[in-house]
Amino acid sequence: MLVYVILAILLFVFYVKWQHTYWKRHGVYQLDTEFLFGNFKNELLGKASLFQAFKNKYKQLKALNLKHGGVYVLLKPVYVPVDLDIIKRILIKDFSYFQGHANDFHPKDNLSMNLFFIHGDIWRKLRTKLTPTFTSGKMKLMFDTLVEKTKGLEELVRSHVKHSQPLDVKEVAARFTTDIIVSCGFGLESNSLGENQDIQEKLRAEIKDVLEKHEGAITYEAIMEMTYLEMVVNETLRKYPPVPFIPRYCTKDYHVPGTDVIIKEGTQVQIPAWGIQTDPEYFPNPEKFNPENFSAENKSKIPEMAFIPFGEGPRMCIGLRFGKIQSKLALVSLLKNFRFTLNEKTHTPIEFTKVSFVLSVEGDVWLNVTEI
Ligand code: HEM
Repeated sequence: MLVYVILAILLFVFYVKWQHTYWKRHGVYQLDTEFLFGNFKNELLGKASLFQAFKNKYKQLKALNLKHGGVYVLLKPVYVPVDLDIIKRILIKDFSYFQGHANDFHPKDNLSMNLFFIHGDIWRKLRTKLTPTFTSGKMKLMFDTLVEKTKGLEELVRSHVKHSQPLDVKEVAARFTTDIIVSCGFGLESNSLGENQDIQEKLRAEIKDVLEKHEGAITYEAIMEMTYLEMVVNETLRKYPPVPFIPRYCTKDYHVPGTDVIIKEGTQVQIPAWGIQTDPEYFPNPEKFNPENFSAENKSKIPEMAFIPFGEGPRMCIGLRFGKIQSKLALVSLLKNFRFTLNEKTHTPIEFTKVSFVLSVEGDVWLNVTEI
């Protein structure tokens, strides 16, 4: 009996170790693994953020000057492209090989049967059906409803001012279902605090200017005219992308151009968007919140695929316009009426939740608020 148990254990150990040589055997450099857990032990045990880990893996591979690398989530091999040309191929040119996000969905499971989790023909049909819902024409129609919603937001903030209480931006974001304003609130406050007051003042001045031209009315056209607002929102999405890595599931064997590597059908790919967006090669001084990264002059210098907060190609975020408009409206209605500073209750430097579906800040982000 004991012999069998020992044999079974040995076989298991051998299998795990062999599985962790998958990338080596397929000609892809792999980062050091830990038994069973692969490359994400602390993350799988809930002790560290998986998003942050992927960002670090990108940096490790990039430091080694590699075009791509392999990692393991438990025993599952995951392909991590680093080179922007390979990424462009996967997302756009050779999309027909990478049509899925992930393979773990079940046709009868409603939760995973939303657009994000399906692929193949069912995905294409549903995507085609939903696309007209998100055109700029439709956004204009929805716009007034969104503006109405900002009134509730203003009241909420005003009640905090009245009681001289700091404001938890997460509460605001939950009310307005727009998470990125938490990061934006933080971004606007988190450098060397004077410098960021300048960004806030500059944005407020633009909002006032443009609204004056539009006789005080928050219209779709007015929002679109706010170029600095666009820069601030982009910078927020660069530094704190809500979806820090973009999944692709290989749906057909793929030969990676310029290499001898074949990515096998069924392989999970993760595009390390957060790592790329904080790479000093593409963004100087990347840890600084600097909307100037997206000035007309600098924006044109950003290489293709180096800024992909909404993904790219046929599976790009369908709600891009909606998400952006909603966040911009929230910012406009807040900054036009109130001035914000970071409350000492907020933990700095910022940390991210260890287990979450989208990137989010650990703990609450408290801001002091005064009415203008
Ligand atoms: C700032 C806000 C948002 C960000 C940063 C964001 C980001 C993303 C990203 C990175 C993807 C994956 C894209 C890819 O695979 O190439 C995605 C997909 C998706 N997003 Fe968003 N998103 C946002 C808001 C929204 C909103 C407001 C909606 C709905 C109203 C939405 C609906 C979707 C859907 C349905 C998909 C799956 C599309 C497909 O697989 O065909 N997103 N989003």
